[in-house]
Amino acid sequence: MQTKRGKRMALPSPQAERVAPVGDSRLKLLEATMKRHQYRADALIEVLHKGQELFGYLSPALLTLIARSLRLPPSRVYGVATFYHFFALAPQGEHTCTVCLGTACYVKGGAALLAELEQATALRAGTTSADGRLSLLTARCLGACGIAPAVVIDGAVTGHATSAIVQGKLREWFD
Ligand code: FES
Repeated sequence: MQTKRGKRMALPSPQAERVAPVGDSRLKLLEATMKRHQYRADALIEVLHKGQELFGYLSPALLTLIARSLRLPPSRVYGVATFYHFFALAPQGEHTCTVCLGTACYVKGGAALLAELEQATALRAGTTSADGRLSLLTARCLGACGIAPAVVIDGAVTGHATSAIVQGKLREWFD
């Protein structure tokens, strides 16, 4: 948002109100982050991180707000948010299990591993259990190709993952 003099103006705006109620301190913190980066488009990833840290996930309203603030096409912001596995576009479960389906992991059995985990957890990839305890997610590359197939369980990377190893870790949470 800009004033007549061309100077950026702080939130709130109608778009911000779709993200959180007026006066919500998270909006102020997000604004402060964008301001610190002078609303530069190349700060997009850092701003998305901050948005997720503050709100837990990147809702469509939040992505639109960031796109407008950084003067980027919404499609670009959405594209970046969906490309990187560490951005969540929906509320996450208490625990997360992210199976890499990037080329190296796919070649080493990532897809078969995912299919086994879908069966074991009764969850489809990209969804969260009804009780909100587990999200089963996928990524395109976790940056750990040398230890493919890779799975991230609650933020910790497991290399050379097998269904038995992953299910063993999941059982630790749910037994
Ligand atoms: S392809 Fe899976 S970590 Fe790179």
